[in-house]
Order: sequence, then structure tokens, then C-alpha cells
Amino acid sequence: MKYGLFFIFVFIFLFVGQAHGEENLPDLPGKGKVLEKCNTCHGLNSISRSKRTAKEWRKLIGRMINYGLEIDEKDLETVIEYLSKCCGRK
Ligand code: HEC
Repeated sequence: MKYGLFFIFVFIFLFVGQAHGEENLPDLPGKGKVLEKCNTCHGLNSISRSKRTAKEWRKLIGRMINYGLEIDEKDLETVIEYLSKCCGRK
């Protein structure tokens, strides 16, 4: 039981860390998908901070897929469309 509390704290820390950042993303269609697909390994702060073109988002998500992101073609388009609106760059 010595480490029980420690693990609970780690859990809370991770949970709070992951939930954080959602408020930085605007409510546009597709946000639900981004929350579902991109809020697992890291929070959303890294997303809302960056500005990329649709092409660059596609490339970045390819990197996320290498890390283990599972996303089908339809959701991929939804997410890229959302990201190029919320976090786009011309
Ligand atoms: C399987 C785990 C995983 C999932 C799911 C995931 N990512 Fe990541 N992401 C990572 C890791 C690991 C890093 C840090 C290493 C890096 O930057 O390459 C990262 C870093 C990032 C960064 C910061 C890197 C930079 O160069 O700005 C952004 C932005 C990002 N992810 C966006 C996304 C988006 C958008 C999604 C959903 C489509 C997503 N991630 C889903 C693992 C994941």
C-alpha cells in the first residue's frame, strides 16, 4: 500500500494534464473528433499552440499515426478540416 497514494496522484496529474487545453480550441464542427482522437497521448495545448497549413497538419498526423494513432480516412479528413480552421496558417 506504500505506493498506492503515489499512483493516485500520478493518475490525477495525468488526468488534469490531458483535460487541460480544450478551452483553447474553438467550437467548430469536427471538434469532437479532435477531442476523441488527439487527447489521448497528450493534451490539446500542443495543438492549439501550433499553426499549420492543411498540408502540414496532414504530415504531422502521419507522424501521430507512426506513434500509434488509429484514425480512418473519413475521420482524418474531418480532423484536418477542423485543424486548418482553428489552427491554420495561410
Ligand atoms: C499514439 C499517441 C498520439 C496520438 C493519438 C496523437 N499524438 Fe500528437 N504527439 C505524440 C507524441 C509522442 C508527440 C511528441 C513527439 C513529437 O513532437 O513528434 C506528439 C506531439 C504533437 C504535437 C506537437 C509537435 C509539434 O511539432 O508541434 C502536435 C501539434 C500534435 N502532437 C498533434 C496531434 C493531433 C492533431 C492528434 C490527433 C489527430 C494527435 N497529435 C494524436 C503522440 C500522439
